[in-house]
Amino acid sequence: MIESFLTWLGNTDWSIRLLESFWVWPLVESTHTLSIAFFVGLAMMMDLRLMGLTFGKIRVSDFTGPSLQLVRIGFAITTITGIVIFYSNPLRYWHNIFFRFKLLLLVLAGLNIWFFHGRIHKKVAEWDLDTPPPSAARWAGAVSFASWSFIVIAGRLIAYNWFDCDIMQFHEHGPEGLLGAFHAFVYEGAGCPTFLAE
Ligand code: HEM
Repeated sequence: MIESFLTWLGNTDWSIRLLESFWVWPLVESTHTLSIAFFVGLAMMMDLRLMGLTFGKIRVSDFTGPSLQLVRIGFAITTITGIVIFYSNPLRYWHNIFFRFKLLLLVLAGLNIWFFHGRIHKKVAEWDLDTPPPSAARWAGAVSFASWSFIVIAGRLIAYNWFDCDIMQFHEHGPEGLLGAFHAFVYEGAGCPTFLAE
């Protein structure tokens, strides 16, 4: 089902034009990277404050108040450009283990944001200048910092085709032992059997 939809999507005129474009694709990718630097950079500053590692003299609300709007704008631009890049080659990205890992991490980062703003940040006035902040806030900062770090690493690794299905198939009966197990995990995790069966 999803295979045939992504195959159809990748064969649409605009998807082919985008992938073959000389300037548009690189500009969209550059905007994706620039907006990441902007919002992930700001988010990580906030996480360091929440973890009580730095900026201890600045109220948490002075951090979260003004910068939250900017983070939201950066996140929106990153998500839109990410979806446009995905549209340029949907089947390849859908079967890319790093892309799948990144989507899982985006869900984790989203749940952490929802829990932090829905629960912990509601009472920020009670712990605004506490050093260190309460453990729930420190944990939220740590989970956020870790998830954005791994999202950026996974995003960067998408471009490398080492684990793409059409490469992996030549190693189907790959190495033994732990490496073999990792190989099999990636092969299954990227949905290669389905992709190669098509
Ligand atoms: C919102 C948080 C996101 C962050 C922090 C993020 C981070 C990154 C990073 C660091 C890269 C590597 C850029 C480079 O190589 O210069 C990347 C690439 C990519 N991202 Fe995202 N991304 C996000 C959201 C998305 C979304 C929502 C999608 C699509 C649904 C997406 C699709 C992609 C794709 C397809 C690439 C690979 C481009 C290539 O072939 O090199 N990203 N992302």
